[in-house]
Amino acid sequence: MRIDIITIFPGIFNGPLDFSIIKRSMDKGIVEIHLHDLREFARNKYRSVDDYPFGGGAGMVMMIEPIAECITWLKEQREYDEVIFLTPDGQLLNQNIANELSLKGNLILLCGHYKGIDERAREHIITRELSIGDYVLSGGELAAAILIDSLVRLIPGVLGDETSALSDSFQDGLLSPPVYTRPADFKGWKVPEILLSGHEAKIREWRLQQAIERTKKRRPELLDENE
Ligand code: 6GU
Repeated sequence: MRIDIITIFPGIFNGPLDFSIIKRSMDKGIVEIHLHDLREFARNKYRSVDDYPFGGGAGMVMMIEPIAECITWLKEQREYDEVIFLTPDGQLLNQNIANELSLKGNLILLCGHYKGIDERAREHIITRELSIGDYVLSGGELAAAILIDSLVRLIPGVLGDETSALSDSFQDGLLSPPVYTRPADFKGWKVPEILLSGHEAKIREWRLQQAIERTKKRRPELLDENE
């Protein structure tokens, strides 16, 4: 998979992409991530990428020209499956969307700022708009990093244990059951007896029951969504 990120703050991505599973997926050559500074596609000598809104009002709007220029330049080099705009009024990211996007080859992620981007870019260039939750961030960069994390870990070969992404919370529409490790008894706080029994089928059944219980208690709406 190849991901091209368009941003006015490429430096934000230095931390999040340099560790753990994302780093390993890049080291293995399974994922390529390329950063593009939108200002390099600005038209004037001030390298402006935003301007006042037509009709007046507070806040600046990201201009269509640098965005169009950058995306056209990328599309001249290869085909893209999606041009995704990260925005608080986009579709809410969930595990189904992450699963779907993890199967794609080439993605462009455009990180928004200010009051938004010129609507014509959304109408004519963007193919998909995603939000990571009902709260407002200063820009789309952290949302893009979260989106990348959620889908990179699903690409076959990225996780060492191939089954491990399948047992994530949400992957089967349920939250994950509780987990324990040694010691079996910490100052009188004991691990559930069943997990020490070695009885695989019973352990599997216990975990499923715990997952259902936990989901009922914490996120009952997830159970309705599966019906
Ligand atoms: Cl994708 N962008 C911004 N700026 N804020 C958000 C978001 C995205 N998702 C939730 N809040």
